[in-house]
Amino acid sequence: MSEWWRRGAVYQVYPRSFADSDGDGVGDLRGLRAHLDHLVELSVAAVWLSPVFPSPMADFGYDVADHCDVDPLFGTLADLDDLVADCHARGIRVVLDWVPNHTSDQHPWFRASRSSREDPRRDWYVWRDGAPDGGPPNDWRSEFAAVGPAWTYDEPTGQWYLHSYTPQQPDLDWENPEVEAAMHDTIRFWLARGVDGLRIDALQRLAKDPLLRSNAGSDRRHDQDWRTAHERLRGIRRVVDEFPDRMVVGEVYLLDLRRVLAYLAGGDQLHLAHNFVFVHLPWDAGAFRTAIEEFEAQAEPEAWPAWFLGNHDHPRIATRYDDGGHGPARARAVALLLTALRGTPFLYQGDELGLPDAVVPPDRVVDVDGRDPERAPIPWRPPSVAGPGAGFTTGEPWLPLVADAERLCVERQAADPASTLSLVRRLAALRTASPALQAGRQRMLDAAPGVLAWLREDGDERLLAAVNLGLEPRTLAPDEEATLLVSTDPARPSSAVRDLVLQPDEAVLLRLHGG
Ligand code: NOJ
Repeated sequence: MSEWWRRGAVYQVYPRSFADSDGDGVGDLRGLRAHLDHLVELSVAAVWLSPVFPSPMADFGYDVADHCDVDPLFGTLADLDDLVADCHARGIRVVLDWVPNHTSDQHPWFRASRSSREDPRRDWYVWRDGAPDGGPPNDWRSEFAAVGPAWTYDEPTGQWYLHSYTPQQPDLDWENPEVEAAMHDTIRFWLARGVDGLRIDALQRLAKDPLLRSNAGSDRRHDQDWRTAHERLRGIRRVVDEFPDRMVVGEVYLLDLRRVLAYLAGGDQLHLAHNFVFVHLPWDAGAFRTAIEEFEAQAEPEAWPAWFLGNHDHPRIATRYDDGGHGPARARAVALLLTALRGTPFLYQGDELGLPDAVVPPDRVVDVDGRDPERAPIPWRPPSVAGPGAGFTTGEPWLPLVADAERLCVERQAADPASTLSLVRRLAALRTASPALQAGRQRMLDAAPGVLAWLREDGDERLLAAVNLGLEPRTLAPDEEATLLVSTDPARPSSAVRDLVLQPDEAVLLRLHGG
């Protein structure tokens, strides 16, 4: 059987918003441990945790102050060990978020680095003199528009330091072999504890032009995706390969697929890459078909796709594709799409409920980059029964919940066979039972306008998946006997199908019987 990270879905937990066990309004590891049955019902292969390491939370954990411990807000190292053991007992792998590009400004390495130009850690970070005009050393900008320049002047030592994100996240200098060695040790720390894999944060940022030339006037960027990225990644992979059966998935936030694929090449870099081309697609069958076919055509035959349409940095699927009320149905169609495509599906917590973005009033905004709405806590129980924390917390949730928690919560949806949660559970079970869905060949089909359709085949098992991304009902006419395995439209009766009329926003999975 193929590796675990090819077979089933990876479920992203954003720990602050999953489940709170101690009433402080922020999710924690014990809260997560108490809800592992939810993951079992979704048949996930692995859970990926956004960072749980000690952090001042300037970027909600992506500013790491100690790579080898757990923030008290989330629990203890022992809680994390217990979580790993509990997950393993259920056949679920655990993937941690590893943030190598930067640390918190409160990390002891940066405190030392900042303390004097002579400190041995000075060149663990990127310090430079200002430009002759007194401004920053070059034109690089922070990834967050609100931050502006990627440089901050530090008065005590009279130099500027680089931060690709907030000023509280100084970039490590990976040109320095000591940095590389120290970061490799943080990988060993977690993998030796039994963690099954890493999601590499902001991998494209790990290598920059060592001459720190400005971006302006060049046809390529100098502040990311430098050619040295690949040897650095191979070094990381060698450390990961010291441990059997582990996986690295990289966040390669580049919208040029060829550049993303370079990080998957050769069998000695990533196992999986987040493909952000996909997240930026309009709701259009042609655009989806192109993105899927380009991956299949351009990736090495050994490269394995991974597909996702939502995470903690992007508006929720149900909101992004809402377009005047289509959101709930499209979120269901996306669930089928991700389950039935060749490749590993990544599911962001709450996608299985079809959650929309939460409305966050100005006085509750906490994120520098407008990402609070997609980070709203999971509603577990109806507020009318469990109180305003909806079973997420007994306290005041750190972000407001979604508006319709009463109807969208896990408890209500679990009891309703027509709910999105029930659909996603059914899809996951189908994938678990289907060699064709897990590993079969894939062929895109020419279908009616607006319809994305494809075959998955393994031995005698032949499945046809179709999604209607258009606004008109469209006939799906498989030229052989077929039975309906699942439709995302709860109103559709299950029966044998010849000329099935696919409603707008509906997706189906059919079993083909030949002939
Ligand atoms: C990508 C993460 O997904 C995002 O949440 C974070 O702000 C940046 N990297 C910086 O670590």
